[in-house]
Amino acid sequence: MPALAAAAEPAAAADLLAPVIANDWVNDEYKHLVLEAGAPACLAGAGQFFHLLCPATGADQPFFRRPMSTYRADPEAGRVEFLYKVTGRGTRGLATLRPGDRLRMLGPLGVGFSLDAAWRNIVVLGRGVGLATLAPLAAMAARQGVGVTAILSARSLAHVMSVSAFNEMGARTIVVTDTDGSSAPCRVETLLRGLIAAGRADAFFTCGSNRLLELMQRLGAEHGIPGQVALEQQMACGLGMCFCCVRPFREGGREVHKRVCWDGPVFPIEEAMGW
Ligand SMILES: Cc1cc2nc3c(=O)[nH]c(=O)nc-3n(C[C@H](O)[C@H](O)[C@H](O)COP(=O)(O)OP(=O)(O)OC[C@H]3O[C@@H](n4cnc5c(N)ncnc54)[C@H](O)[C@@H]3O)c2cc1C
Ligand code: FES
Repeated sequence: MPALAAAAEPAAAADLLAPVIANDWVNDEYKHLVLEAGAPACLAGAGQFFHLLCPATGADQPFFRRPMSTYRADPEAGRVEFLYKVTGRGTRGLATLRPGDRLRMLGPLGVGFSLDAAWRNIVVLGRGVGLATLAPLAAMAARQGVGVTAILSARSLAHVMSVSAFNEMGARTIVVTDTDGSSAPCRVETLLRGLIAAGRADAFFTCGSNRLLELMQRLGAEHGIPGQVALEQQMACGLGMCFCCVRPFREGGREVHKRVCWDGPVFPIEEAMGW
């Protein structure tokens, strides 16, 4: 069992009012939010998240904060970015933010991704909003000289996000869509088996799809490939106190319960149970 690379010291969390720099549509469902945010926010690690106090707008009065993983955290520019899908009252409120407005956000929170010093090539497989969560992992891998193959899955080409972000980080990017059937789990399995055979899969990382998680778990178990998954779960406090985000996990042959906000949201891939 190779030694784990020393985990980076987690950044302290803070509750701040961050000025909005931009909040633009990237397609008909997703917006890209850029905020001015100094330390500790801009020190967020890949896979960590912020708890956002989404603005109330008319009939939409979101009571709880909404969790959102960091799409990019840039300590030099003092910025934090999110890529989010407009789905309900909270994200509809987020979508109304304009440059100059301010957003209250708490973070960075949670346990993010980590890279083992022995891994030279990793495979990142994501779908939908999961791609936003995985993008900073590719950046972290690039900084550590680890090769990344990113398989980006979406309904159609118009809904594939972050291709340029992954490409800029030097990832080898493969796009699969429902439109041409290339996103079917059996087709993705063929891609993964090819990467394993080529020695390009020292570890698996995934987010955003139960079917893709199960596929990576099965192939990981078959070939002894470790991995990590970022889980999404509705949250209230986001701080480990209310236990509303508890999910079952497999650990040492038994079922245990863990808080996604506190123990995760990133977990060893073999521990996660499907949903
Ligand atoms: C750690 C973490 C990181 C996340 N990162 C991102 C991200 O980078 N980009 C992004 O677009 N979304 C992300 N999400 C999901 C995001 O939190 C939800 O989409 C958001 O809370 C929905 O709020 P809403 O008020 O707009 O919708 P609601 O009206 O609350 O819900 C709309 C629909 O989304 C479902 N939903 C609500 N909250 C969640 C949730 N937390 N997880 C899964 N499904 C949910 C509801 O069941 C409902 O079907 C993340 C979630 C977690 C837990
Ligand atoms: S959201 Fe309260 S414990 Fe996780």
